[in-house]
Amino acid sequence: MKYLSKREIRYLEQIPGIDLNLVGEEIGRGAQNIVYAYEVEKVIKIPRAATQRDLLSRYVSPIITQSADEMKQDMELCAKYFPDFMVDAQVKKNPKGAEYCIIQPRIPLRELTKERHATSPELSEELAELTSANKRMLKEQGVYLDVMGWDVDRVSKMKPYISNVAISTMSKRKRNLALVDFGVLRKKKGWSFHAMSHRCLLLVQQSNMRRFHGALPSRFSAT
Ligand SMILES: Nc1ncnc2c1ncn2[C@@H]1O[C@H](COP(=O)(O)OP(=O)(O)O)[C@@H](O)[C@H]1O
Ligand SMILES: [Mg+2]
Repeated sequence: MKYLSKREIRYLEQIPGIDLNLVGEEIGRGAQNIVYAYEVEKVIKIPRAATQRDLLSRYVSPIITQSADEMKQDMELCAKYFPDFMVDAQVKKNPKGAEYCIIQPRIPLRELTKERHATSPELSEELAELTSANKRMLKEQGVYLDVMGWDVDRVSKMKPYISNVAISTMSKRKRNLALVDFGVLRKKKGWSFHAMSHRCLLLVQQSNMRRFHGALPSRFSAT
């Protein structure tokens, strides 16, 4: 339990079936979750909006963090559009409250950088496939996969990057790319702050993808 804060312990204690003694060191973090090693070869993702007090967790994470039910729906959508890329995940939930966490197999990952993408036709083909499935999901469902993760530091550097999809170095997977985060954003109508910020995020992501694919021949660039 030595890796968890009191707030995280209190949060996880409300979710049946989680053994706090099997939570290991932190292995990553995004705008929604802190990710810790769990059991053997697993990870546990704990929503930061409910457990951390820093500015990102208080003001950005709540905008993009789904509820447990939304998370399940989003996982179903991702399973429909990105079946071979998805890494299995289980949502564990407090039956009486909103607390939940995600358990996933731990996958050895390397970042999909622009250089790796530009020099590997295999990776480029897979990213193009994923990107065109994402376009299809936006058209058919009004929902798109977040492949930027809204890491404020990275977005502010204005360099194209991919998050949530990474290169798996595990040989038994069908694909080289692994989708570990099923955060989706919804295109909303109207002029509310929420709708406007989601449209703005979509434009930023589309421009990011165009610039990411930019280094390649056009047959790969399914933005
Ligand atoms: N299944 C996994 N196996 C290994 N590392 C992971 C796994 N899932 C996430 N990570 C690491 O944790 C980071 C944040 O995870 P992510 O699920 O994207 O969090 P968030 O939901 O906050 O965006 C990832 O960039 C990756 O480095
Ligand atoms: Mg992420």
